[in-house]
Amino acid sequence: MNTSGRSFRKSSIRMRRDMIKPEPLQNTGNSRNDFSYTGFDGDMLDLADVMVEQAVGYIGIPLGVAGPVLIDGNEVMIPMATEEPSVIAAVSFAGSLVARYGGITTRASDPVMVAQIFLEDMGNFGAAGVDAVLKSRDAIREHLKPILVSMEKRGGGWRNIDARWIAPSRTLAVNLRIDVRDAMGANLLNSAAEAVSPLLEKITGGRVLMAILSNRSWNRTASARLSIPIQELGRNGFDGAETARRIVRAARVAREDPDRAVTHNKGIMNGISAMALATGNDTRAIEAAAHAYAGRHGPYHGLSEYWIENGMIHGSIELPLPFAVTGGAVGFHPVTRWSLQLLGNPDAPGLSRIAAALGLAQNLAALRALVSEGIQRGHMTLHARRLAYDAGARRNDIPDFAAIIRSEKIRGRDSAARRFTEWMDAKDV
Ligand code: MEV
Repeated sequence: MNTSGRSFRKSSIRMRRDMIKPEPLQNTGNSRNDFSYTGFDGDMLDLADVMVEQAVGYIGIPLGVAGPVLIDGNEVMIPMATEEPSVIAAVSFAGSLVARYGGITTRASDPVMVAQIFLEDMGNFGAAGVDAVLKSRDAIREHLKPILVSMEKRGGGWRNIDARWIAPSRTLAVNLRIDVRDAMGANLLNSAAEAVSPLLEKITGGRVLMAILSNRSWNRTASARLSIPIQELGRNGFDGAETARRIVRAARVAREDPDRAVTHNKGIMNGISAMALATGNDTRAIEAAAHAYAGRHGPYHGLSEYWIENGMIHGSIELPLPFAVTGGAVGFHPVTRWSLQLLGNPDAPGLSRIAAALGLAQNLAALRALVSEGIQRGHMTLHARRLAYDAGARRNDIPDFAAIIRSEKIRGRDSAARRFTEWMDAKDV
């Protein structure tokens, strides 16, 4: 069947699945042809079909729950969707470290986002367009009233407007600042930007090039802080004070070396993106904003800081966290509703605060492991479980056979599969 064009697009999701016959994989080292793992039938399949175009199924990213983490006095269990081992365990470990010392305290700004309208062909008007826009502030605000009316009722809506002449590209950028309350805001911002475009053309004499939100999200930040006695970091024969000193140095390195900073921040986002996915939030928007923020002072740098004072190690983080609790996939996909309930039904700033705490917890656990025993040890236990699964073990056999893999130091998939057959045969006797 032809899967290239209209016929594929227009088919039902069930027909699309029949049309697709992928070739067995060549380069993953696993040529088994078990494609039924696009999984889920019935309602879930219909859900996929209304969420994206040309849907055929799901990739079932594991959903775990980290915690409890004491955040602003509440014990929070955090849903995390991730394919990466050790990430959830790391947050739970950090949660247990901070639990007896006040946990993690957080703050969040108001959820203000920016919509941008770019105008070109402004003739001689050029930079004077900035003044023209600012003088028309009230008319622009009035023009946007119908679009913002329901957001204003919820306490959000219009906050401000500014404009900037971008000389090299001879373009006028108009930024609308709008408080989007519990939403991520993309729909509202894009609608507002498009609705005001004809008026801005009249005011400036220019022509709209494009109208779209900015994902920079620097007005929508959250921060988190923790403090624990340095001796609490001692573990597996490593001295607490020395580990604390090394964590401070490691975070400083991430402030000064961009190569390290990217990995440092990737670790922070391991937690934040996993909660974003579990709650149906836009992981790319959140990631883009975080990384842009890490470059706000010039060179890209680590997003967290640590210092030692009076026998305590203190850690802090601040970053833009444009999390929503309604709109888009949030609250629409059933798992996202479950996740938000588990989190205690926060509002959007509340969810951003949990995300900031999660990022800091993830980072503390990663740095502690890196400057002491390293991260490979924890990974090896999970690696053995994956190898056991790949060799054919299921359910209760997984931990038992993983223990054999570890004790016999079995490395490759083929040797694991052979040993598993032997082991099962011996069990049958
Ligand atoms: C791995 O996904 C994350 C870490 O590399 C983070 C870090 O290095 O800080 C362990």
